[in-house]
Amino acid sequence: MHRAPPLRSLHLDSVDSTNLEALRRFAEEPSRPLLVSAGTQSAGRGRQGRAWQSPVGGLWMSLAWPLSRPQAHYAAAGLAAGLAAAEALEAMTGLALQIKWPNDLLAGGRKLAGLLGELHVAPLPLLVLGIGVNANFRPEALGPGLLFPPTTLLEQLGRPVDLAALREALGAALAAGLAAFDVQGLAPLLPRLERRLPWRGRLIRFTGPGGSVTGTLLGLDPAGRLAVEVEGRVEHYASGDLSGVRAEQA
Ligand code: BTN
Repeated sequence: MHRAPPLRSLHLDSVDSTNLEALRRFAEEPSRPLLVSAGTQSAGRGRQGRAWQSPVGGLWMSLAWPLSRPQAHYAAAGLAAGLAAAEALEAMTGLALQIKWPNDLLAGGRKLAGLLGELHVAPLPLLVLGIGVNANFRPEALGPGLLFPPTTLLEQLGRPVDLAALREALGAALAAGLAAFDVQGLAPLLPRLERRLPWRGRLIRFTGPGGSVTGTLLGLDPAGRLAVEVEGRVEHYASGDLSGVRAEQA
């Protein structure tokens, strides 16, 4: 296990977005990674410019991580962080978690958590890695119209979790995961990531910047891109969303 540098951490009752707050506060002490969490967010941010609902009872947290390698090294950092989070959450709760590429953690086929990595060049080269875990509330507390059906720890476990303990364990796991990723990159993580992919060997619909395609999910390539067989050719996708397709829908 790689040792993470000592973290500075900060918990707020409420903030616009912990990703934004971590970016604003990081420069106060730029030599140390900074963990910012909040009880609720008024402008939580999701992937692809989407909004992220953040009711009280969830775990909303961001880690500002100074880059020690060239920026290109961090293209797949979100995958490494997602794996670290999945393994830590699984150890804490006993739930079996899948990773819906690139950054969604699923429990029972529903979305339990999402991660958002944002790279910045100023004030210093920095990765802000945010994670939102639907924890101590019912899925109905999230409004309708979500891209993927949600679940929560309360629903999965039938009891509330200790949010402070979860925050501490997940923060430590993310920092250790990123410290290892700084040194080793993605290669040693690929088998563990692929084992957690839903729909491997099955039909999926992929929607990316170039539109939607249906194909067979093969796995990940060494860069962490999604490898999909589409009409006899292997395509590699770096960003987008996927969902499973039932054979009769194809
Ligand atoms: C997604 O699945 O679209 C990613 C969601 C990431 C949400 C977290 S909550 C903490 C941090 N602050 C934000 O504004 N977003 C991330």
